[in-house]
Order: sequence, then structure tokens, then C-alpha cells
Amino acid sequence: MQFGHFDDVRKEYVITTPKTPLPWINYLGSEDFFGLISNTAGGYAFYKDAKLLRITRYRYNNTPLDNGGRYYYIKDGETIWNPGWQPTQTELDEYTCRHGLGYTVITGKKNGLKAQMEAFVPVHDACEIHRITLTNESEAEKDVDLFSFIEFCLWNAQDDQTNFQRNFSTGEVEVIGSTIYHKTEYRERRNHFAVYSVNKEIEGFDTSRDAFIGQYNGFHDPEAVLEGKSRNSVAHGWAPIGSHHLKAQLAPGASESFVFVLGYCENPRDQKFVAPNVINKKPADELLAKYQTDAQVDAALDALHTYWENLLSTYSVKTADEKLNRLVNVWNQYQCMVTFNMSRSASYYESGMGRGMGFRDSCQDLLGFVHLIPERARERIIDIANTQFEDGSTYHQYQPLTKKGNADIGGGFNDDPLWLIAGTSAYIRETGDFSILDEPCAFDSDFSKAVPLMEHLRRSFGFTTKTRGPHNLPLIGRADWNDCLNLNCFSEEPGESFQTFGPSEGPVAESVFIAGMYVKYGNEYADLCEATGLTEEAADVRAKVAEMVDVIEDAGWDGEWFVRAYDAFSNPVGSKVCEEGQIFIEPQGMCVMAGVGLENGKAAQALKSVEERLDSKFGIVLLQPAYTKYHVELGEISSYPPGYKENAGIFCHNNPWIVCAETQLGHGDRAFEVFRKTCPVYLEEISEVHRTEPYVYCQMVAGKDAPTFGEGKNSWLTGTAAWTFTAISQYILGIQPTLSGLKVDPCIPASMDGFTLNRKYRGVEYKITVDNSAHAQKGVAEMYVNGNKIEGNVIPPVEGTTAEVKVIME
Ligand code: GLC
Ligand code: GLC
Repeated sequence: MQFGHFDDVRKEYVITTPKTPLPWINYLGSEDFFGLISNTAGGYAFYKDAKLLRITRYRYNNTPLDNGGRYYYIKDGETIWNPGWQPTQTELDEYTCRHGLGYTVITGKKNGLKAQMEAFVPVHDACEIHRITLTNESEAEKDVDLFSFIEFCLWNAQDDQTNFQRNFSTGEVEVIGSTIYHKTEYRERRNHFAVYSVNKEIEGFDTSRDAFIGQYNGFHDPEAVLEGKSRNSVAHGWAPIGSHHLKAQLAPGASESFVFVLGYCENPRDQKFVAPNVINKKPADELLAKYQTDAQVDAALDALHTYWENLLSTYSVKTADEKLNRLVNVWNQYQCMVTFNMSRSASYYESGMGRGMGFRDSCQDLLGFVHLIPERARERIIDIANTQFEDGSTYHQYQPLTKKGNADIGGGFNDDPLWLIAGTSAYIRETGDFSILDEPCAFDSDFSKAVPLMEHLRRSFGFTTKTRGPHNLPLIGRADWNDCLNLNCFSEEPGESFQTFGPSEGPVAESVFIAGMYVKYGNEYADLCEATGLTEEAADVRAKVAEMVDVIEDAGWDGEWFVRAYDAFSNPVGSKVCEEGQIFIEPQGMCVMAGVGLENGKAAQALKSVEERLDSKFGIVLLQPAYTKYHVELGEISSYPPGYKENAGIFCHNNPWIVCAETQLGHGDRAFEVFRKTCPVYLEEISEVHRTEPYVYCQMVAGKDAPTFGEGKNSWLTGTAAWTFTAISQYILGIQPTLSGLKVDPCIPASMDGFTLNRKYRGVEYKITVDNSAHAQKGVAEMYVNGNKIEGNVIPPVEGTTAEVKVIME
């Protein structure tokens, strides 16, 4: 069953009922100001940091599920309704929600009145625009009341939801004309405030929630709206809100628009006030002046469209499969931008209070983002490196506002350091900008100790080189990529955090997955050494990598697949000798991607085992058999009921590793099959089963052991976005940035005749045509650049800014 459809021309997903299986959301904002907006206008806004600078309040896990947002109420005679159906839930005569790139348009119709809400964040301004357009489609004149409503958050979202004894007394606002200023805590240490304004004269306003809604009413029946009259309330403590009351008189066929701006403003500390406790409104005046007319809003929307057109023109493909095209050209890249901006902080499943930027998460997010805005990727790499410790280990997370490591979770996740190599290497392969390696980067944010980024990478590699266990495999620490494989934790008490309980270092628990990473990213580090003239170091790194390959093929090989780990007693995890959890997906993907066992058949055997034991119709599950009881020696992984999350769920992030691995063996058919199974656009027709948005990946789909097999959860903020984009763009379609240029090495289904692709790379736009009339799965027979046949399949430097590339597969 579908709840909408793709509009490929406008690059939108069009939702045709407000009652989607779960809220289907979109993100507004590209730089500092962000909004989450659902298909019923739910959600919230924040500036830079979803925990520390939250602008509007949102209550997670509420009833109804998605309650609270930017609500516009229309009172047309006795009928009160919202264009997005929520919160009044008045049945609409027509409803659509178009989620586009950085904007959302919700349109409702009731009794001959059409109300459209366009919501977006302008490219370079810290505000959300909501333009409400009312159109009278009836034969009679209409007198309509329009009420706006948002609820302010008292900035720190966590404190806002917990510290009521203080917060009920701190709220403050100012109201001048049509503008409401939210200034809680501005009197003391804050130098920022929020504004909520409309470009028309208002009939009245409210800033006290109790006055507007009534103590025992709800968002669905605010007293002020029921009565058609604002209270002109000024909030003192309790819950400050913003609400405007406007009237529209519409002749048949007439339209009127109202431009609302919800903004974030800052003043220099010494210019906060114009009179005692009166805000200096200069930044607000300047911001609001930019969005007073429809023409200004149209221009800002056009600028947003151009911004996205330009970004997406970096990589776009044309195949015979329109679903594939829309995934690659629009939605997957869009999600990569969102994961880059948000890491795992704010979604409908991440509260924005829990985690900042994950070290490993952010490094991996770069893989799918670096081609879009390399300058921002560069900045991010340096921010991340600045939090590394001197011994090469790292904090697990850092806070985007302060850019400092989170001390409460600390470090000890032993895969983290190697991901820094992955992100940096991807950046240089994309841009050719080796100068980043010379950038001085701090240790633990201490800039007096700064050393070049290259030294950070060296320490990342060095950390894993020396941090080894009894089998000479890397020690796992608190966990590796799998946050739930906690082999040193041994937690017996409810409530202890699996990620921070117990020692961060155990003496023996080891990870085969990190060993695979060491091979893959060790080689990428050696490539960087070679390219920068460090020949001896490169040889040394390669030798260490070769030793690790031997270790993996010995202690890390179980006979038909790669072992997952060794626990604190040196017993294997993910081995045929285990009762449960005999085979895990992660080492199969990572080791084969790293090239382990390609020559001696182990790689092929491992992937065959994955297909036989882990595959399902909705994707490859993380492990089998699922853990049915709690294993204190394994930690959180066995805390989940079978089939969910890391305990044998389809953890979408690692499915593309298998895709990449299959292409190493030339298996184009199988690689595409694996790619397709978790790909949301192919699941659109079964949205009642999959339930999450058909335009983005979710972190997890319930596995075959779960009663709800096929049900997705935790959409949007997942490393799946970056890895699937890497898998499809670089490994299947085969356009691979390398240090020496763009390589073309497709591995596609034999049935595919070929494709054309536009790729902007290091200042040149390549128009690539791949001819697969041979119906091969892999292999380039001939390649021509601007009509000239070239050796090999790496495009040599060309003159000019465009080049035609023709590739013939064999
Ligand atoms: C979550 C975490 C990520 C981790 C994964 C597997 O998605 O954000 O860091 O690798 O779970 O446990
Ligand atoms: C839980 C989740 C895992 C996530 C981790 C973050 O362990 O299962 O996916 O990475 O929390 O702390």
C-alpha cells in the first residue's frame, strides 16, 4: 500500500494522506538553523545544536504520536481546521504534503477554502519561513480567522523537559506590533533570543500557553481559537508561546498570503539591551526586513532550489530503472546531507538531547557527503581530529556547539581512530587537496599541542598497531562499530549503560572487524604516505597490514566465514562453535572489502555463507542464530529481543558493505540484489509493512526472527545513507575517486544495457557513457576520453572543463 508517490520532476515526495503509518518527516535548513517537519506540520526548530539551542518545544513519544509543531488554525464559520490535519484532526476535503529538498508544502482544503503552508529555511539566514496562502475556491465571500501557534523551548531541551521548579518561573517575552520576542534567560547569560513575526497587522496575539489554550484544553481545541479571539497575553514564567490572530476577507477566487518568520538572533554581549531588560532588536529588524513580501519569499525559495540543483549536479545517473535514478540522483544524496548536518542528534527517533556528533558516525557520513560540499567536509575532518587523544584513541562523541569531546561517554571504542583515515582519504580522493594533511590539529581540543593532520592519521593507525590481544587481533575496548558488542562490560544491574559500564579496556577481548578495518584503512593510509613521498613509511605500513591479513586468515577464519571477535575469555564470537550468534555480517563485509581472502577463495566462501545463512527478503540480518537469552559476556547485543536492532535485525548500515564486497568478486547481479532489498524506493508499495518514509533509509528493519519482520524503525539518521551512496555510486555504477583521478569500474547486473552519468570532479564535468551490450557484470574492455582510447580505466588529466568518456564493458 502507498501513502503517496514520488514527483521526479519537482524532486518531491507527495504524501496524500495525513495518516501515514508513522510521521513522515523532512528537514529544513542547510547550515546553522534547522527544522524537523512532519507531514502534519509537527516537529521543532533549533540553532546549531538540538540540545543546547532549541527554539521550539517538542514532546517525544507523545499521544497522538506527533503532537506539537508549527500549527496554523483556520476558523471559517463554525469549522476549525488545520491545513496539515493536526492537531484539530478536522477531516479535510483534500490534503497533500510535498516534502522537497529543504522545504515542505502542506495544502489542505475545507468547505471551499484552500490553505497552503510553505515552510523552508533560507540558504543563509537563521530562520524558518512559513508562508500561509488562503484561497477562496467557493462561490461566496469568506471571512476567515487565522491563528498561528508555536511553543517556545527554554533553550536547553533537556533542562526544559526536566527542571520545572525553575523553568516555570523564568519565561519572558516582549511583543511589539506583529512581532513576538522570546527572551527567557536573556536577562542573564544568554545573548540570543527568538522572534516570531508576521508581515501583516494583527488583530491580537498570545504568548502565554495557558491563556491561549486553556488549562485543561489541548492543541486540538485552544480556547482562543474556539472563541475566535486572542487574549493579548504576556507570559510571565510558565510556558511562553507565540500566537498571532489575523483576519482575511476573501471574495470568491481571491487569495491572501501571510509570511511568518521564526528566527534566531544574537547580539554582541555589550549591546544586549536598549533599556533595562529591553532587547536590542537590531538583528531581528534586519532579519525580518528580508521577508516582508511575497517577492522576497519567492526569491529565497528560488535560491534554495538553485542551491540544491547545483549540489545534485555533481553526480547524476540515467539508467532504465527510474527508481534507481531517483534514489541516486535525489534522495540518497539528500539524506547524506542531512546525516552530515545532524549526525545522530535530532530526528523523530533521536531526541536531540542524547548524542552529539559521533566520531565514527561523522567520519563515515563524510563518505557520502564529500562530493557535495568538499569545503565543509574539510572543516569537519579538522573538527573531528581536534578531539583525538595523543595516543591515537578518541572520544566517542563531541558536541557540535562547543566542538569538544563528550567526557561523560569518553573513549575506548577501538574502531573510532581508523575511521578518521577513512574520512580523510575520501576527502583527498575527491578533491586532490593534500594540503589538508598539513593542517595543525589539536589533541583533546588543546591547541598548544597541535600537530599536522597527517600525524593524527599516523597515530590512528599506530593505536591499532599496538593495541592487540592474545591472537594478535586488535583489542575491541568498549565496542567496535557494533556499539552493542560489549565484551568487557559484564553488566548485571538494570540501568547501567552498556557503553560506559565496566573497564574501557579489557586485556583480551578482540575484534576481527577492526582487523578488517586495519587492512582496508591501513592500505588507504599507505596510499597517502606514498603520494606524499613517505616511501619508507608506506612500506612499513604495508608490511604491518600484510601481517594483519595473516592474522585474520588464521585466528579470524572459522572455516566457512570470518569470526566476529574473541570475548574476554578468548572464546570466539560468531563462530560455528557458538550456540547462538554463529555468524555475523560485519567481518564478512569489512574483510572482503579490505581484500582479505580474494585470492584463496575465503572471500567468496564468506559471502556465500552470508547468502545462505543471513539473507532474507528484506535484507541481510546482522547475525544468526539470534540470541534468545541475555549473555552477560556479550553485553547489549543480547539484550534485544530476537530480530531487533543489533540482535539479528536487518541493520541497514552494513548491507552495503556486502554490496561492495560482492563487487570485489565481480558479482554484479548479487550486489544489485542486496542493494535493492533495503532500498526504500523499492519498498514504497509495501509502506504498510515497512512503515517508515519511502524516500529515506532507516537504521533498522526488523529481521526474520521478529514478529514484525520487515518493519523499519529509526529513519533518517543512519550511516546507511553514506554507505549505500558509496556502494551504488562507486562500487555498482563504479565511478570511483582515487588519489590519481577518477576511475570507472562498474559492476552491474548483466541485464543492464548500460547507463549515462554526469560527474563533476576536480573542476571537470565528465559525461560518462557505459555500454554494456556485452551484458557483462564487471570488466572494462575499452575506454575513450574525448574520443581517444586510453590505457586502463583511470581518466587521465584533461584540458578544459568538460570531457566525454565512453566505456565499453566486456
Ligand atoms: C548506531 C550508532 C553507530 C553504530 C551502530 C551499530 O547506528 O550510531 O555508531 O555503529 O549503531 O551499533
Ligand atoms: C544502543 C543502540 C545502538 C546505538 C547505541 C548508541 O546501543 O542499540 O544502535 O549505536 O545505543 O549509544
